[in-house]
Amino acid sequence: MSELNNIALKIIGNGKGILAADESTGTMTKRLEGVHVKSSPENRLLFRETLFTSERMNDCIGGVILYDETIKQSSKSGKKIPELISNLTSVPGIKVDTGAKTLANSKEEKITEGLDGLRERLNEYYKLGARFTKWRAVYIISDKYPSKLAIQTNAQALARYSALVQECGMVPIVEPEVLMDGNHTAYDCYKKTTEVIKKCFDELELHKIDLKGVILKPNMILPGSSSGKKITNEEIAKLTIKCLKESVPSEVPGVAFLSGGQTEIEATENLNQINIHNNTNFIMTYSYGRALQQSALKFWSKDIKNIKGTQELFNHRANMCSLAAQGKWSKELENK
Ligand code: 13P
Repeated sequence: MSELNNIALKIIGNGKGILAADESTGTMTKRLEGVHVKSSPENRLLFRETLFTSERMNDCIGGVILYDETIKQSSKSGKKIPELISNLTSVPGIKVDTGAKTLANSKEEKITEGLDGLRERLNEYYKLGARFTKWRAVYIISDKYPSKLAIQTNAQALARYSALVQECGMVPIVEPEVLMDGNHTAYDCYKKTTEVIKKCFDELELHKIDLKGVILKPNMILPGSSSGKKITNEEIAKLTIKCLKESVPSEVPGVAFLSGGQTEIEATENLNQINIHNNTNFIMTYSYGRALQQSALKFWSKDIKNIKGTQELFNHRANMCSLAAQGKWSKELENK
């Protein structure tokens, strides 16, 4: 087994998943101000450290994606944050793209930037303890989008990023996120997501990426959030699996879904169904931001000193997600 494959399996194997705590300072400020907490470096660290030191981190969280600010901060106990995470037998990771910018000649769409100087930044993050990375490309759906231009340019950037990350001894998370916004059907989402992911792997193969050392972070296949259409969790699961079977090479060890605006329960229930119906060799787990943090953040914002109460909520969500990653979750367990 290659070292990169070992790292990937440590992150997503054994019913574990990923905590995406890599919100940029801008996004984190929106989240904190949304619950009336001042967005200072100290408060951002306090909330994140509260999650990282929760009891269920050990069993449920195989990897934590950090933001540049956090990977350089130290915990109350004086430990560097990546050290704190690896002592918990979880793998520290880092978001390395510099954000999605307007795509020239297709101004409603985005291209993710961050390739300039990336090799040097990766070496620095490796020294700080990171062993995996994340790069997010984002696509909109409508009758004419995503355009061939957006699909092609983002896939190429994801492949160039992946090559540099593997060169540096880390596992790239490849995140092509087809957004939920819009009034499209789940079938439209299935068609477009399949096209997007296929193109990503075409480019990854062209760039000679070791696919055993890659984790795919896709969206689930859902109807557009303003479509007013509802499909069952089982239908979501089956379409999602169909899409991945048709677009992901079998060497890839696993898939860690983003929650993308689903509620905590929706994201858990859909993942559970995916695992019940999973007839592939891919591990199917979570790499959730909002769906792991939302209720903990809301509770914490009422009293930022109540660490224990906040951790109880996070422990519960982590536990539920880990059960869903094994197809063992049920609604009754939510209320226990
Ligand atoms: P959400 O689970 O909140 O969509 O965040 C995951 C993520 O890392 C998006 O890049």
